Parts: sequence; C-alpha cells; structure tokens
Amino acid sequence: MPLAWSVEKPPIACKRVGQSVAYRGKKYTCVKVKNKLVWDNGVPLTVSTSKATNSPSPSKSIANSPSSTPNPSPSSAETYPAATPSPTKVHFAKSTAISNNETVVINGKDQQGRPLSVAFTRNGDVLVALEASCTHAGCIVRPQGKELACPCHYSIFDPISGKPGNPSQQGAYPLKILEVREESGSVYLWL
Ligand code: FES
Repeated sequence: MPLAWSVEKPPIACKRVGQSVAYRGKKYTCVKVKNKLVWDNGVPLTVSTSKATNSPSPSKSIANSPSSTPNPSPSSAETYPAATPSPTKVHFAKSTAISNNETVVINGKDQQGRPLSVAFTRNGDVLVALEASCTHAGCIVRPQGKELACPCHYSIFDPISGKPGNPSQQGAYPLKILEVREESGSVYLWL
C-alpha cells in the first residue's frame, strides 16, 4: 500500500507540527505520523480569483431634463365683457327756447343725426326732458294745457313723469325720460 506521503513533497525538512509551506501549487502542512514529522498531502493553493474587474464605470446618466415648459402666456383670445356704451352728450337747444312754467316740444337730432323730438318742461330750476314720440305708434305728442297729448289717438301724458293720464287709451306706456343738463345757455341731452 503506497504511503500517502510518497508523493512528491516539499524538499525542505518538516520541523514542527503546523509548519506550512507552499510547493508546486500546493500548501503543505507539517503533521506528526507515528512520532515522525512529515508533510501532509497538501491542498491546492487557492488562487485568488478576485480580479480587478474592469467594470465599466457607470455611465453618466444624462437625465432627460424636462423640456422647458413655456409659461402660459395670456391668451390673446381673452374676452372681455362688452362695454356698455357711455351716453353721448348732444347739444339740443338753447335755454331761451324753454320758458319757465312751460312745456314745449323741440325738434332736433340725436347723436347720429336722426330726427328726435323732445318735450321740455321747465319749473323753476327743474328742467325735464321727455322723448316726445308716443308710446303707442310713434306720433309726436304736443303740449295741451298741462298735459302732453297725442294727435293720433288722443293719448295724454304727464309732462313731468311721462306717465299716461288715460291708460285706457292706446298709448299706455310712459314716455321715455331723457337725461338733460343746461350749460352756458345751452340745453344738452345725454343720448
Ligand atoms: S300714436 Fe299716440 S295714441 Fe296712438
């Protein structure tokens, strides 16, 4: 029976138990067999497999930066409520055309040059202007006593309030009150 240690062993002497030596790819350890110090059969030396891994360096991640989002610009389609047209100041008559305690109908023109008849009544510092077109069918009312009367179907109206005096007649709606002001001897309407 071949001895285990008959294989090629390190050529150096084994002097103490536990002594180790590397020889031809093996690590041998000194052991005591039958009171003799001998090298064991050895174990292959472990080869470090730890190799420097040329692992690619992590690629620099270029994050896709979010595209710049344009700030919302005010929409050019913004809409605004339609502005109510402001009244137009229209010179309509001379102040001397309207005597105190009197109602008179003056024919003039509106802001667009169209014919417009207005019933003026002056009472001291108060000046009232009513559109003189009858609310029934548009005939021009006339002063009649202390009232305004329609020559077409005989409706009558109060020259201060414009309210119809005989609601049973055709012209049952009040005459339209106009904004009037006097400046420097002239009568102006805001139409
Ligand atoms: S138009 Fe004036 S009452 Fe008819």
